[in-house]
Amino acid sequence: MQNFTFYNPTRLIFGKGQIEQLKTEVPKYGNKALLVYGGGSIKKNGLYDQVMTIMHELGAQVWELSGVEPNPRISTVRKGVDICKKNNVDFILAVGGGSVIDCTKAIAAGAKYEGDAWDLVIKKAFATEALPFGTILTLAATGSEMNAGSVITNWETQEKYGWGSPVTFPAFSILDPVNTFTVPRNQTIYGIVDIMSHVLEQYFHQGTNTELQDRYCESLLKTVIETAPKLVDDLENYEYRETILYCGTMALNGILSMGVRGDWATHNIEHAVSAVYDIPHGGGLAILFPNWMEHVLDENVDRFKQFAVRVFDVKADGKSDREIALEGIEALRSFWTFIGAPARLADYEIDDTQLEVMADKTVVNGSFGNLKKLTKEDVLAIYRASLY
Ligand code: NZQ
Ligand code: ZN
Repeated sequence: MQNFTFYNPTRLIFGKGQIEQLKTEVPKYGNKALLVYGGGSIKKNGLYDQVMTIMHELGAQVWELSGVEPNPRISTVRKGVDICKKNNVDFILAVGGGSVIDCTKAIAAGAKYEGDAWDLVIKKAFATEALPFGTILTLAATGSEMNAGSVITNWETQEKYGWGSPVTFPAFSILDPVNTFTVPRNQTIYGIVDIMSHVLEQYFHQGTNTELQDRYCESLLKTVIETAPKLVDDLENYEYRETILYCGTMALNGILSMGVRGDWATHNIEHAVSAVYDIPHGGGLAILFPNWMEHVLDENVDRFKQFAVRVFDVKADGKSDREIALEGIEALRSFWTFIGAPARLADYEIDDTQLEVMADKTVVNGSFGNLKKLTKEDVLAIYRASLY
C-alpha cells in the first residue's frame, strides 16, 4: 500500500423521506440561498415543489439558477457566480445529477474568488475558499455528491477539465432512492457504466498488498453486475435504485483509493471526446474502457486475470493467463452491451475526422495514466479501436 490520508467531511443523509433533513441542515449556513438545477426534470417529478415548500417554511430567501447543462458549461457557472456576488448569497443548494453538483462546486468557489472561475478549472488559481453548499442527488452516477471533484466544459474552446479542492466537498448530501425513479432508462445505464468505470479506474493500479482494496472494488462491481440488469427492466423498484445509488457514492468518495493510486486514463480520454462531441460521459466510457483495457493488457496480465476470475467468474482451466484476461475484458464489454450501453463511437456518429484534435487534448499536461503511461499515439490507437 501507499501511505495515505483519508479526508471526507460530507454529511451523507441516505434514505426515503430524508428531504426533511433540509430543515436542520439549511439553517446552519444562513438564509440567503441559491438553488441550482438542470433542465427541468425536478419540476416534472415534483422535487422542486418539495424543496421550495421547505425553503419557504424556513423563511429562506431563494435565488434560482436553472438550465445547468449535462456536461455543465463555464458560461453557466459565471451566471451563478454573478448571482452569488450581487446578492451576498450565503449558501447554495444543488438539486440534480452530477452536472448540477459540479456546476455548483464551481459557483461556490467562484463566488469567493476575485477573478474568472475558469482560472480555477484550468488550475491557474487554486480554490482556497468556497461558499458552503449542499446537494439533493437525483441520479446515481458520478459520486460528486460525496467528493470534491468537478468537471466543467468551456464550449467556446472545446475544453473539458476536472478540478477540485478540499473546500469543494458538499457540506451535506441527501440521497433518497425515490428521487431517482424518474431517471430515464438511457441515463440509468450511463450512470451504471460510470459507477463501474470509477471502480475500474481505481482497481487497475500498480500497488502491492492491496488485499482489502481489491476486494472492496470486486464486491462493488459484483453488486452492480447483479443489480443493474434488474434495475433497467424495473426503473421504479426501490431496492434496486437504493443499491445502485449507494454503490455510486461508495465508488468515488475516496474509500476505494485509500493506499492505491488509480489509473484514470480512460476518464481523461473520454473527457476529450465529450468536450468535442458533447456525448454523455457514461456512454463514452462504455465505448472506450474495454479498448483501453486491451491496449494496456500485455504489461499487466496478472491484474486483468484477477479481474476476470474474481469479478466475472471466468474459468481458468486449460487457458493461458492472457486468454483468461481477455475473456474478462470481453465479459465486461458484453455486460455493458447487454444492459443497453453503446459500444462504438459510430453509435454517436463519431468518425475519424476529429481524432487528432481529441488526442491532443488528452496530452496537454504530457503523458498520463498510472497503470501505464499513455502518449498521444496510444490514445489514437484506443480511439481507432473504438470507432466501429
Ligand atoms: O437537467 P435535468 O432536467 O435535471 O435532466 C438530467 C440530464 O438531462 C437528467 N436527470 C437527472 N436526474 C433525473 C433526470 N431525469 C429525470 N429524473 C431524474 N431524477 O439526466 C441527464 C443527465 O444528468 P447529468 O447530471 O449530466 O448526469 P451525470 O450525473 O451522469 O453527470 C455527468 C457529468 O458529471 C461529470 C461528467 O463528466 C459529466 O459532465 N463527472 C463528474 C465527476 C465528479 N464530479 O466526481 C466524475 C465523473 O467521472 C464525471 O466525469
Ligand atoms: Zn466518471
